[in-house]
Amino acid sequence: MSHLVAPSLLAADFGNLQLDIEMVNNSLADWFHVDVMDGVFVPNLSVGTPVIKVIKRYAKKPMDVHLMIIDPGRYISHFKDLGADILTVHYEACTHLHGTIQQIKEQGMKAGVSLNPHTPVKLLEEVLSDLDLVLIMSVNPGFGGQSFIPGTLEKIRKLDELKKKHRLNFEIEVDGGVTLDNAESLVRAGVTVLVAGNTVFSSDDPVGTIKKLKELK
Ligand code: DX5
Ligand code: ZN
Repeated sequence: MSHLVAPSLLAADFGNLQLDIEMVNNSLADWFHVDVMDGVFVPNLSVGTPVIKVIKRYAKKPMDVHLMIIDPGRYISHFKDLGADILTVHYEACTHLHGTIQQIKEQGMKAGVSLNPHTPVKLLEEVLSDLDLVLIMSVNPGFGGQSFIPGTLEKIRKLDELKKKHRLNFEIEVDGGVTLDNAESLVRAGVTVLVAGNTVFSSDDPVGTIKKLKELK
């Protein structure tokens, strides 16, 4: 089965956001990846309600929202109202992860959990069957344009083994430092959703770069 590509709007031109959204609409990309940061869980702030409303107004593909905020359980219905299709929370930010996952699903969204680079995949084993997606951070979250942490490849293989062992179907998404050079090995290791920020938006030909990411095997 072929993998999905989710351009991260964090690297888009916010002065011309509509233009970049339409570029993604007219490309082979599958989802819009939207990064929400609270300045507490990660040392940066990104977009909030007004900007997400603009994204939703123009985006013609599913909105994949990555919450880098503490206690995300407080905001599940808020992101449903904003039009999130997939909502991902961080393992490290949830005291009652199982409950938060159920809340996301009860609101009719797909539920994802993200792991920071130091968090082992085995910690998710008890909730894996409830998940639609696991997001493996391949950089420390908070900023675009960082270098891929090489050990992530092995982590993805381990997660893919767990997925096969339990005969599950969740997406394996990788986020941070994804390039045209490492994307193929990521897909081979088990990635089913490639997030790419700078690789897409800093490229001279974003539509062509998305096509290349989409067509590699
Ligand atoms: C970082 C965000 C990423 C970021 C990736 O914390 O979660 O989605 O936009 O950017 P690149 O692809 O440039 O590393
Ligand atoms: Zn992200």
